[in-house]
Amino acid sequence: MHGNSDQPRPVAAGDHAGAFTVEWNHRLITTRDALSPGNDILSNLLPVEEGPSRMVACLDQGLVDSHPELPAQVELWAEANTHLVRLMGKVETMPGGEEAKNDFNVFNEAARLINERGICRKSFMLVAGGGAFLDAVGFAAATAHRGVRVIRMPSTTLSQGDAGVGVKNGINAFGKKNFLGTFSPPWAVVNDSHLLMSLTDRDWRSGLSEAVKVALLKDASFFEELRRLAGRTRTRDLDAMEGIVQHSAHLHMKHIIEGGDPFELSTARPLDFGHWSAHKLEQMSGFDLKHGEAVAIGLVIDMTYAAMIGCLDEAVLKSARRCLLDMGFTLDHEALGNQEVLLEGLREFREHLGGQLTITLVQGIGEPLDVHEIDLNVMRRAIEDVRSVSLNESSRVG
Ligand SMILES: NC(=O)c1ccc[n+]([C@@H]2O[C@H](COP(=O)([O-])OP(=O)(O)OC[C@H]3O[C@@H](n4cnc5c(N)ncnc54)[C@H](O)[C@@H]3O)[C@@H](O)[C@H]2O)c1
Ligand SMILES: [Zn+2]
Repeated sequence: MHGNSDQPRPVAAGDHAGAFTVEWNHRLITTRDALSPGNDILSNLLPVEEGPSRMVACLDQGLVDSHPELPAQVELWAEANTHLVRLMGKVETMPGGEEAKNDFNVFNEAARLINERGICRKSFMLVAGGGAFLDAVGFAAATAHRGVRVIRMPSTTLSQGDAGVGVKNGINAFGKKNFLGTFSPPWAVVNDSHLLMSLTDRDWRSGLSEAVKVALLKDASFFEELRRLAGRTRTRDLDAMEGIVQHSAHLHMKHIIEGGDPFELSTARPLDFGHWSAHKLEQMSGFDLKHGEAVAIGLVIDMTYAAMIGCLDEAVLKSARRCLLDMGFTLDHEALGNQEVLLEGLREFREHLGGQLTITLVQGIGEPLDVHEIDLNVMRRAIEDVRSVSLNESSRVG
């Protein structure tokens, strides 16, 4: 009998077992005005040998509000490339932002389109929008027929530098971020910098904290560049932002391709530095805090903790704080006052990753450090410190 035993049964002669690998191609292209006539980046991504591919296009409402020309541009592009693409029905617009992930509406709508427009596993979904929209529609695309091809056009700094480049999708459920979702690499990612110009100041800034995160983890010279460019990002310099977003996207993508764990099977998830508290803060604020804003606070909490346990030089913490402040982030939120609820984020983070708690800190720039235990009393002091330093700073400014 081996029915319900928790113990794995020893493999006996005659059993079949074996490892297998699957090869994925991850394509990332940066351009300006991807849909303008004469830009052939999108058409070059479609497989000529398969004949015209069926495609359904879904756009984030917030993006279309600022770029009302986009649906017609997609249609014109498809008309000019009928040998490669058959657009199935009109270009659809659906709500974006975190609300898109907080219920099943966008997921259901995207799945319905895949069904009604005859989209198969060889067809394409063209999805343009912020990270939340890409996550929700991407989840539908990854599960309908067990996965249809997706071309992502991320349209925020955060999605171009991080979310849209990754291999994950998902929606929030049971009060937890990204509780439902899959790992599913996109067919391609097209970053169109021109789209960034219409972002609100908060969404423009938001992607910068993920750039700071990945620089702190992996690239000291990129961190220096971020410090240098912080002022220019604040005045909405597109050239500066474009370079930062590209560098951040490159480092995120390199981690996925070369890091040895694209589907996050290990308990360590370095790119989630600062995220155990960020995810909890987003949720505690009723998603008033944007993901990137919460990540900025989360980074400072974990670096303050690292400095308190003696593994990070105080000067590094100070320069990271300064850089985030220069970019315009506010490193405080009233949710920090509710420490016990915030600390539940550690347990939720462990559950989400599975297995042993693993939190990635930094012990220097470009020097990540995985720890498996957090001293809660020190973490309480770290959270308190982040609050009081911010309060002092704002009273000095005021
Ligand atoms: N899948 C991943 O690997 C991954 C990684 C990091 C973050 N994320 C997720 O990404 C989400 C955050 O993404 P985000 O920062 O892009 O925010 P967002 O998707 O919430 O978008 C912010 C707002 O900008 C609007 N918008 C989008 N493009 C626009 C444009 N060009 N001009 C004007 N408005 C525009 C949207 O409608 C929305 O209202 C979070 O849900 C986070 O969990 C996912
Ligand atoms: Zn993030």
